[in-house]
Amino acid sequence: MSKMLIIYDSKTGNTEKMASAIAKGVKKVKGIEVEVKKADRTNLTDLIEANGIIMGSPTYYGQMSAKLKKLIDKSVDVHGKLIGKVGAAFTSSGGIASGAETTLLSILKAMLVHGMIIEGRSETEHYGAAAIGAPNKDELESCNDLGERAAKLVTRLASLTE
Ligand SMILES: Cc1cc2nc3c(=O)[nH]c(=O)nc-3n(C[C@H](O)[C@H](O)[C@H](O)COP(=O)(O)O)c2cc1C
Repeated sequence: MSKMLIIYDSKTGNTEKMASAIAKGVKKVKGIEVEVKKADRTNLTDLIEANGIIMGSPTYYGQMSAKLKKLIDKSVDVHGKLIGKVGAAFTSSGGIASGAETTLLSILKAMLVHGMIIEGRSETEHYGAAAIGAPNKDELESCNDLGERAAKLVTRLASLTE
């Protein structure tokens, strides 16, 4: 069975709500289990054991929060062991065009440095799921979609190596 790990940081609960909605989307796909963990409670073994890793952070000064960055910086100890895993990103920001996309890209760039596989989206929200403050209905649906698409990609890739 493949595994999706959703890692998030959240101070006031907005990004946490997104993480739960993404987990719901993952659960729509058969053959994949999902675990949701806070960034400061995630260890390097968790990263290695996952087939897909979805990371979320509040937008802090146009980039990910220090807690998520700390985990990413620690991940240098497993550099080379995350190659080929599926990655995706999500964020909650305080406003429109105030750093959400740059935050998503700050996470995706680290994933690319690890050699992970990122699937874009041709409709809206090309870089990942984003919400302004607490996620509304549409934003929760887009979180669901992100989880489902990432899970489908994990299972597609797993079928290639079976
Ligand atoms: C230190 C700090 C920096 C922030 N920087 C930004 C920012 O650059 N752009 C923005 O839109 N919102 C910014 N915000 C607002 C948060 O991104 C927003 O409130 C978010 O919904 C919080 O998510 P959380 O409930 O998961 O903690 C900042 C908040 C804090 C505490």
